[in-house]
Amino acid sequence: MQLFIYPTSEIASQQAFERIRHAINDGATTLGLATGGTPEQLYTLMRQSDIDFSHMTSINLDEYYGLAPTHPKSYHVYMQQNLFDAKPFKQTFIPNGENKAVAEETARYEKILNEHPIDLQILGIGGNGHIGFNEPGTAFDSTTSLVQLTDSTIQANKRYFQSEEDVPKQAYSMGIGSILKAKEIILLAFGEKKAEAIRALMSGEVTTDNPASALHNHQNVTVIVDEAAAQLLPKS
Ligand code: PGA
Repeated sequence: MQLFIYPTSEIASQQAFERIRHAINDGATTLGLATGGTPEQLYTLMRQSDIDFSHMTSINLDEYYGLAPTHPKSYHVYMQQNLFDAKPFKQTFIPNGENKAVAEETARYEKILNEHPIDLQILGIGGNGHIGFNEPGTAFDSTTSLVQLTDSTIQANKRYFQSEEDVPKQAYSMGIGSILKAKEIILLAFGEKKAEAIRALMSGEVTTDNPASALHNHQNVTVIVDEAAAQLLPKS
């Protein structure tokens, strides 16, 4: 696992963008994409770039259970607004939060992942160490499933909703095992709210209490953070 610390999230996002450009130039055709506040600057750079994504496939990590793809707070709409409207891909996949047939939806998504191996996966990290919506305690070999969001995740995400009651309490998420199948992984973390999660990740301790620590079992992970997220790291 390689760590890069940059003064600001803007510079860090630019570096992540250059890595994506490099991967695409090297033949990457399938991107694993994340939502939330962290990748917004990265998506702005992708939107403003001259890169043509129309031959590419994207696969998103997760979607709120119970939200229709047209729901303004769904990750479908987030992806349209942040990237796909400006930069169409050949095909895009996001779990269907509206599908209440859980076994069917999770099997459908795993089939998609098996048919489209991810070349480069972009990840954020939760304050509690979650990746995707895989909360602490999730098995490292987990596949796509319907997960129960922890209170800390609901608290962190309520800023997007009118009230805490409106935040869905469950989500479909790629599993940790699904994520680890990506050929290359870039994890981004910005701001002091992520400092403890980055400290725990870089401590090297591997435990299901910290889902992101599963990334130590992967051969090609780059962690890109700003100084605020790096503030609890040892100074050496
Ligand atoms: P954020 O979420 O980018 O909105 O901070 C990241 C995550 O919870 O994985």
